Amino acid sequence: MESIKLMSIHRRHFMQMLAGLGLAAPMQRGFAVSPPTGVLSADHAMAERPTKQVIFPDGRKVPPIGMGSWHLGQGRHADKEEITALQLGLDLGLSLIDTAEMYGDGQSEKLIGRAIEGRRDQVFLVSKAYPWHANRLMIERACNESLSRLATDHLDLYLLHWRFGSLLGEAVESFERLKSAGKILSWGVSNFDTDDMQELFEIGAGNHCATDQVFYNLGSRGTEFALQPWCGQHGLPVMAYSPLGGSGSHLLQHPLLAQIARKHASSSAAVALAWAIRGGQVIAIPESGTPAHIRENASALSLNLDDEDIEALDADFPAPTHPVPLETR
Ligand SMILES: NC(=O)c1ccc[n+]([C@@H]2O[C@H](COP(=O)([O-])OP(=O)(O)OC[C@H]3O[C@@H](n4cnc5c(N)ncnc54)[C@H](OP(=O)(O)O)[C@@H]3O)[C@@H](O)[C@H]2O)c1
Repeated sequence: MESIKLMSIHRRHFMQMLAGLGLAAPMQRGFAVSPPTGVLSADHAMAERPTKQVIFPDGRKVPPIGMGSWHLGQGRHADKEEITALQLGLDLGLSLIDTAEMYGDGQSEKLIGRAIEGRRDQVFLVSKAYPWHANRLMIERACNESLSRLATDHLDLYLLHWRFGSLLGEAVESFERLKSAGKILSWGVSNFDTDDMQELFEIGAGNHCATDQVFYNLGSRGTEFALQPWCGQHGLPVMAYSPLGGSGSHLLQHPLLAQIARKHASSSAAVALAWAIRGGQVIAIPESGTPAHIRENASALSLNLDDEDIEALDADFPAPTHPVPLETR
């Protein structure tokens, strides 16, 4: 009787019901697949489609493609175009926005503050502190200044931008204090290699770390050897920066990407992003200040590469077979 009732429930409602009961949602190449939440505008046929999501250790979920901002608000494109691009990205389901106090010396955070005005609740906002601010004397001020530039009262995730020069124990303590004060909902690190992560997890509340943000794209797969498996074993998603290779990279000109893109009526950028997020444990944060590129990047959320594509990409961009030191930008 119960099974007959279940069969008559629309698939989308069935997935919502599973999520409500705290049960695992159906998986698609490693992903939790569930309907998007908080997606809003008319652009959005996508709002009705199931969306891939990555799960943080505290249970919060984000789509596996977000938006970077290293060069935004600094005149590479007109501010107006970059704001339109970010808002379009939110419309298309790219709800995570990554920034840092470093980017344009606060200009990126200010531009994001303008882009998300009136829709803060639709954004998973990530910023980063300099290592020399991650201590009990400096962290509160650094965080307050980021919050003020972003015109918000909290960050969803606050990262230690890189390790160099920081005292890990004090950094952890400082982040935990911000969390208790409600200024950040979680914290994590960036540019940490496997041995850094091991050391972090041996410190007090070090295992409260929510993610490691690292350089990862088809041309730089070193983190697949040890770091990504380690994060997987500890329940941490990895954030992939420069997933298109970064400014000035020729990755998107590789003919195989164009060939796979043609097969799926897609773009080289979408293929590179769909590849980066294929395992369900990586959140890619491509940056774009142009709406057309944002649209391409968002299309990767619904691009599923098949085994033939993955094998061809593995042949041209081999996975590491030995430990590779962490690359940084
Ligand atoms: N934690 C760290 O240490 C660290 C280091 C580096 C970066 N990051 C973060 O990661 C984000 C992304 O990394 P990234 O900026 O180095 O590299 P990226 O996202 O791999 O590449 C950005 C470049 O690709 C272009 N682009 C974007 N979408 C495109 C598309 N669909 N087709 C063709 N070109 C496209 C952008 O130009 P347009 O603007 O013209 O589209 C820009 O020149 C940064 O913004 C930052 O938030 C973090």
